[in-house]
Amino acid sequence: MISKARLKKLAEEHGTPLLVIDHDELRKNLRTFRKYLPRVQPYFAVKAGSDLAIVRTLFKEGASFDVASMPEFDLVYENIKGMPAHERQQWIWDKVIYANPVKPVETLAELDKYKPLVTFDNLDEIEKIKQFAPNAGLVLRLKVSNTGAMVELSSKFGASPGEAVDLILEADRQGLVVEGVSFHVGSQTTNFQNYVEALNLTADIYAEAKSRGYTKMNLVDIGGGFPAPYDATVGPFRELAKIINSEINRLFPKEIEILAEPGRFFVATAGYAISKIIGKAIRDGKPSYYINDGVYHTYSGQIFDHCRYPVKAFKRGPTKLSAVFGPTCDALDVISQAENLPDLKRNDFVYSEMIGAYTYASATSFNGFSPATVLHVNE
Ligand SMILES: Cc1ncc(COP(=O)(O)O)c(C=O)c1O
Repeated sequence: MISKARLKKLAEEHGTPLLVIDHDELRKNLRTFRKYLPRVQPYFAVKAGSDLAIVRTLFKEGASFDVASMPEFDLVYENIKGMPAHERQQWIWDKVIYANPVKPVETLAELDKYKPLVTFDNLDEIEKIKQFAPNAGLVLRLKVSNTGAMVELSSKFGASPGEAVDLILEADRQGLVVEGVSFHVGSQTTNFQNYVEALNLTADIYAEAKSRGYTKMNLVDIGGGFPAPYDATVGPFRELAKIINSEINRLFPKEIEILAEPGRFFVATAGYAISKIIGKAIRDGKPSYYINDGVYHTYSGQIFDHCRYPVKAFKRGPTKLSAVFGPTCDALDVISQAENLPDLKRNDFVYSEMIGAYTYASATSFNGFSPATVLHVNE
């Protein structure tokens, strides 16, 4: 946790807009995950914070990685390029999953030499993998309930339970090896029941595959979705972990490897955005502050991730309901129409906490405004 005083000092030293990433917090989140889910190997979903320094810190802590594009794979590869070839190959086998169920054929062709683990959820993908990455290991992505998740993923990805084993057998018929089943319960899932249902469905798929003669599966990938503690409605991680542990131990024998792809859980609480007021007006009787960061930049998670990041002031004093706008000319660039803020002046700093996941990863340079400078601390 970085104190308000330190954040302010960093903004004075480095200028704004600034996004501070606290690497102590990254390490702490990884350790918490491991402590409460000892049977689960975490593959950090790089998309949540696709940054070389973040990947390096988690790499040094022994994390594995979920990548979903070639540039994300390259961010991970950067850490192992110096390893002897054999060791490097072993590391990729052990520690990387390419978890985008639909892949360009060029990517498959590039990945094939690494004999990667890749997800799939449809017939066309089996044909592509057979032709362009025949050395890959396959993981069937299952469609599961995303009810209660902040970001719904099940309408875009996942084989239905009725077609799952047919797809597994078809991949087998084409000479590919399906090593297991994966799912994603939706990002920022506060409905812990989603994991219970998904794990039971996965056990059913395992049983059906076995009854139809397929016995090569040895892993279950429980995806991401582990919620960040954005507000008091989010239950403690240890409670979710207790539920998951009890289900995996009940449903899957010890030999089955359990993987997960946490993204948000590792990086959300590590990020702090600091910006400054560049203009002030009274609109409809409400103080309205224009700051030098917005929804095209660090606050892009408000659009793409359906998240909200309260804006706070360093200054104290009586507060008024205020609006906070980003710097661009677009009327969409509204961070909040209802923030309780004290009376602020031009050049005053404001900040947001828990803004490390899916934020600067989707920042643009729209309207000529560059994304915030990213500052890594406690590396
Ligand atoms: C396949 C896959 N794995 C993992 C993640 C990371 O999810 P989260 O950030 O909710 O942990 C995502 C997010 O979209 C995803 O699509």
